[in-house]
Amino acid sequence: MRAEFAASLTFSSVRLTGTKSGCGGGGCGACTVMVSRYQPATKTFTHYSANACLLPLCQLHGAAVTTVEGIGSSKTRIHPVQERIAKAHGSQCGFCTPGMVMSTYALLRNKPQPTMEDITQALAGNLCRCTGYRPIVDGCRTFCQEANCCQANGDGNCCRNGDGNPDTPEEEKPQLFDKEDFLPLDPTQELIFPPELILMAETANPETLTFYGERTTWVSPTSLEELVQLKAKHPKAPLVMGNTNIGQQHYQLPFLVNAFLPSCAGVWVGAGCSLSELRSLLEKLVPQFPEEKTELFRALNQQLGNLGNQQIRNVATLGGNIVSAYPNSDLNPVLAVGNCKVSVISRGRREVPLNQDFFMGFGKTILNPEEIVVSVFIPFTRKGEFVRAFRQAPRKEASFATVSTGMRVFFSEGSRVVQDVSLYYGGMGPTTVSATKTCAAIIAKPWDDETLSKAYDILLDELALPPSAPGGKVEFRRSLTLSLLFKFHLEVLQKLRETNVIKDEVPEKISPLPREIQPGLQEFQAVSKDQSAQDPVGRPIMHRSAVGHATGEAVYCDDIPKTDGELFLGLVTSSRAHAKITAVDVSQALQLPGVVDVITAQDIPGKKFRPMTGQKEELMAETEVSCIGQIICAVVADTRAHAKRGVAAVKISYEDLPDPIFTIEDAIEKSSYYEPRRMIERGNVTEAFEKVDQIYEGEMRIGGQEHFYMEPQSMVVVPVGEEMEFDVYISTQWPSLMQEAVAETLGISSNRVTCHVKRLGGAFGGKVTKTSHLASITSVAALKTNRAVRCVLERGDDMLITGARHPVTARYKVGFMKDGRIVAADMEYYSNAGNTIDESTLVVEKILMHMDNVYNIPNLRGRGAACRTNLPSNTAFRGFGVPQGLMVVENMINDVAVVLGRPADEIREINMYRGPSVTHYKLEFSPDNFLRCWDECKLKCDYSARRKAVDQFNKQSRWKKRGMSIIPIKYGVAFAESFLNQAAALVHIYKDGSVLVTHGGTEMGQGIHTKMQQVASRELRIPTSKIYISETGTNTVPNTCPSAASFGTDANGMAVKNACEILYQRLEPMRKKDPNGSWESWVRFNRKLNILIDCWRGEDLYMDWEKMEGRPGAYFTFGVCCCEVELDCLTGDYRTLRTDIVVDIGRSVNPSVDIGQIEGAFMQGLGLFTLEELKFSPSGLLYTRGPSQYKIPAICDVPLRFNVYLLKDSDNPHAIYSSKGIGEPVVFLGSAAFFAIKDAVAAARSDSGLVGPFTLSSPATPERACLACNSQFTQKIPTSKPGSFKPWALDI
Ligand SMILES: Cc1cc2nc3c(=O)[nH]c(=O)nc-3n(C[C@H](O)[C@H](O)[C@H](O)COP(=O)(O)OP(=O)(O)OC[C@H]3O[C@@H](n4cnc5c(N)ncnc54)[C@H](O)[C@@H]3O)c2cc1C
Ligand code: FES
Ligand code: FES
Repeated sequence: MRAEFAASLTFSSVRLTGTKSGCGGGGCGACTVMVSRYQPATKTFTHYSANACLLPLCQLHGAAVTTVEGIGSSKTRIHPVQERIAKAHGSQCGFCTPGMVMSTYALLRNKPQPTMEDITQALAGNLCRCTGYRPIVDGCRTFCQEANCCQANGDGNCCRNGDGNPDTPEEEKPQLFDKEDFLPLDPTQELIFPPELILMAETANPETLTFYGERTTWVSPTSLEELVQLKAKHPKAPLVMGNTNIGQQHYQLPFLVNAFLPSCAGVWVGAGCSLSELRSLLEKLVPQFPEEKTELFRALNQQLGNLGNQQIRNVATLGGNIVSAYPNSDLNPVLAVGNCKVSVISRGRREVPLNQDFFMGFGKTILNPEEIVVSVFIPFTRKGEFVRAFRQAPRKEASFATVSTGMRVFFSEGSRVVQDVSLYYGGMGPTTVSATKTCAAIIAKPWDDETLSKAYDILLDELALPPSAPGGKVEFRRSLTLSLLFKFHLEVLQKLRETNVIKDEVPEKISPLPREIQPGLQEFQAVSKDQSAQDPVGRPIMHRSAVGHATGEAVYCDDIPKTDGELFLGLVTSSRAHAKITAVDVSQALQLPGVVDVITAQDIPGKKFRPMTGQKEELMAETEVSCIGQIICAVVADTRAHAKRGVAAVKISYEDLPDPIFTIEDAIEKSSYYEPRRMIERGNVTEAFEKVDQIYEGEMRIGGQEHFYMEPQSMVVVPVGEEMEFDVYISTQWPSLMQEAVAETLGISSNRVTCHVKRLGGAFGGKVTKTSHLASITSVAALKTNRAVRCVLERGDDMLITGARHPVTARYKVGFMKDGRIVAADMEYYSNAGNTIDESTLVVEKILMHMDNVYNIPNLRGRGAACRTNLPSNTAFRGFGVPQGLMVVENMINDVAVVLGRPADEIREINMYRGPSVTHYKLEFSPDNFLRCWDECKLKCDYSARRKAVDQFNKQSRWKKRGMSIIPIKYGVAFAESFLNQAAALVHIYKDGSVLVTHGGTEMGQGIHTKMQQVASRELRIPTSKIYISETGTNTVPNTCPSAASFGTDANGMAVKNACEILYQRLEPMRKKDPNGSWESWVRFNRKLNILIDCWRGEDLYMDWEKMEGRPGAYFTFGVCCCEVELDCLTGDYRTLRTDIVVDIGRSVNPSVDIGQIEGAFMQGLGLFTLEELKFSPSGLLYTRGPSQYKIPAICDVPLRFNVYLLKDSDNPHAIYSSKGIGEPVVFLGSAAFFAIKDAVAAARSDSGLVGPFTLSSPATPERACLACNSQFTQKIPTSKPGSFKPWALDI
């Protein structure tokens, strides 16, 4: 039997497609299922969430697995969890939704009335790239036992009131959903555990199970003795426990050792105890013993709460964690300081202490291969003994630690003199390390500042890392070793003081960052009282597929059943950044089972390249490669697994070419650019600099961003069988481009290729150009083999091959007056475009067009260039350069404020456009609505009072600082090229009165189909239930434009509106003849008139770069965001305490969809500017190829209070029903979190006597924020001279 995982079982064999695959490694939660087991001994059941992608099927013998389909369906009854997530607007693209549902469901099976903490813990490992989590939390919050509103707020004010004053009469505010509509949760109605499995467990005699696979044999023994024998016979065979480390590689010999034995000195815990079980066990034990005995238990629990995520903890075992010997393990340092030991068995038994000798390297311990850890001894602590655990991670939750540590100190009674101390660190080398010398310097000394300050110096030497240490972040990691010891120092002092051992004034207690997510406000304008009740426009209608998302019934590309003879395609990519291809040897691959063919450029009958902004991009490299990850050829095989093995067997020989270029600096030095480079200027910048009071020059670096759409690139190309016809089922934002690409590649005409797009599991700009390359290659395979071919990229390949948001470095020079007026600014922008042009020069143009943001700088010059480098080619990403461009001007304004010693918001206000205004490209516009957003945001967020409170907090707190910022945006909506601002719609009205609408937009979570239904409903005056949208197809609406540029609803909405208007007009005679008739009766007799395709063309937009003038956007969407953060200066961890966003989106067609876009875009921007980091090796290999290395915002990043307000009474004559596009603009507002962090860092620096502007690159990760704080600990770290070593990662 081939190795199967629960995920692949649900996907293919039994056609349960609800369980999604987003990463295949336990890091995204899309595949969450509930596993239930029955324990015959106690006659009890356990239910827990688990990642199907890591659950080996062989291990599920006797267990019941519940997938999202099992708990409810639209055909029978949907489950309250599914209903609430759907109705609370918790799904957009829906790809993460089944996982969210199942994590919540498993929680409710164990605790029907959870707390908010339970919910955030349960969902910590479920990633969502669309929603921003707030609506998911709000949907789940309705299950909470505590009140959801005022009580949760805790301050006596009702959180849903504007001012919290009960005397102020509040007009009734429209809500996004009504809790009263929800089905009650009735735990008695849940699925029962299958009786046949109970019977089996109670009656069956345990017998050894053996499964034989193509390459693996799996044995499940029944006794420890049998396991010992097997292990002795096959010492190299891994012992599969939770399988969270072994993953989808190899597996054998599962055995569960799951006992807990109290002993007088501590407890023995079975090595097979899952980490969740261990946690509950320790939680249960703590209150049973005196506090002094449970120091170690509590420290372990602290660490367990942050280790991995719920799904991982539910299956990962204690023994597995220890033996995995991760360098940055969370538990091992704590177990080691606690003098824990393991009991191991092979031919004999022995006890082995968990100390520095135990851990020998990454994944290596002193145990012999045949030895099995049976149990782990966790001792009690003694009176006078304190144990603590600390960790710092790139993301607060669901993330391996950057540095983890366990620390223990022991004092004899009543003394501050150290009798014993133990310090262990993870993340400081290839394995858990002990700071023995440091401990020696502390022992027998009094625990005070003097001892500790000597200890820091010794520790610094003892745990030194070379500057090019694997994992990078060398200075940060070294500083963390000190600052975490300092935290321990403070906590021990507190304890000594509490126990009256010392009387010293103890410095500030550093409490953890706050974490409870409170209900937020979502304010929007109610529709006019005169609007017909049936007219849905302007109402918060649920996403039309939300229930399908939540039940798993919504179909994505890879859910399409396999057709007869279908093949799977895997891509062979370059492992060199710049090299000649000297040979491609496919012979071994072709020998492998299941491999059918290898597709190379020579197989392409038509064009071997795709044209991109005037240049040609090769589909498959033939003679030379210019980045790691470039596609060279493709293997087609009968299954995914065979294709993967085939890919690995293709041998490519290279001859390296000299001097690859990776960084922007390299590219500038070698003048490696794509043309055209652009320049724009207004006024006379050079002259103006001569007249200003002051000049400041700065630099801003903004990192790239991986799209991380939850559904990877997916497509199925099916040869239809006659006359070279192809059906292409594909996840793309631009079906017409795919049609064109396939036709041109195959050398056939477009009328033979039909592209079908049902829905996308997210896209964000990443499913346009790169998808067309993949579609072309897949179609060649389909043509050559004459079989359907499926290509679904694994997450790692997707991240490697398909590019990301452009990193940008900008230099600026700004001239300003003493009163704060900026008179001149000169900016240079360089983007890292990668090895092909893609749309990079257009991205640079967009940056230059937005470089003024909302500021009227009379003399403004911008120059932009897209750098050609040997990294994978970057592409469009939500905002298309605008977020990077605006970051520069806002950073510049901040610098001016700091130089002048004035608040940044004042400098912003002084320089804003006011009254009738003209942009730097000579476009007239009114900033009135923007200024309304600004004033309203300041008012709603109570800016002045909170600013004072922040300053007050900072005066009183040394190690935690708060920061606040308020950031505006002016975003031009639509494509700057007129030909792209067109749309068409096809409307069928059938005899039974049902209506089928087709338009050019693709549904990728942004709710375009829901909005189009609303438009058709208004125009045809029929309920949305009569209107259906099946898919986007090139055979119904041809030559469409991409769903991009925030313009989808504007363009397609007008086309649908026009088509429906005309059809409605055509019904006029019938309505007149039969005024009391029904819709059905009118359409029945008008059959010939009931189909219409109508086109809409937007305004003529253009940009003339010669004249430096144009009208590149149809109108502006405005917004303002205020953020407040709290920063732990010792670790760089931060939490957004509150976010208030006011956005002018005209008259929203659907406030729930639009607010969803705003929240989701903000969180994506928060990721871009504070969290997400692409890391490349010095040879140009992308390290960050999955959720374990690349962190997108998770639930732990949601602002604790997240308020969104849509500006009232705003009209927009340029778009449908006076609405405005909103898909992209708010991404930039995520920078408010960056500037709030920078504000907090500035407060920390001023405590160290540092004033004046400072550089903080984006993203403001914990590493950067902590180092910028310049604390006494970071100051100790010697910096290595750039150029004197090879860094682990490039600064691209
Ligand atoms: C998404 C994700 C996030 C994670 N986050 C964290 C984190 O934040 N912090 C952290 O510390 N860890 C983290 N981990 C690691 C996780 O804790 C370990 O993978 C897990 O504890 C290993 O236990 P297991 O039961 O799954 O081991 P398995 O994967 O089943 O086995 C791992 C190895 O241990 C051996 N082994 C297992 N049990 C025994 C035994 N009893 N005797 C001898 N050998 C044995 C196996 O032979 C195998 O070589 C994460 C893992 C994932 C997938
Ligand atoms: S697919 Fe299983 S966790 Fe991502
Ligand atoms: S709705 Fe969560 S990933 Fe799209």
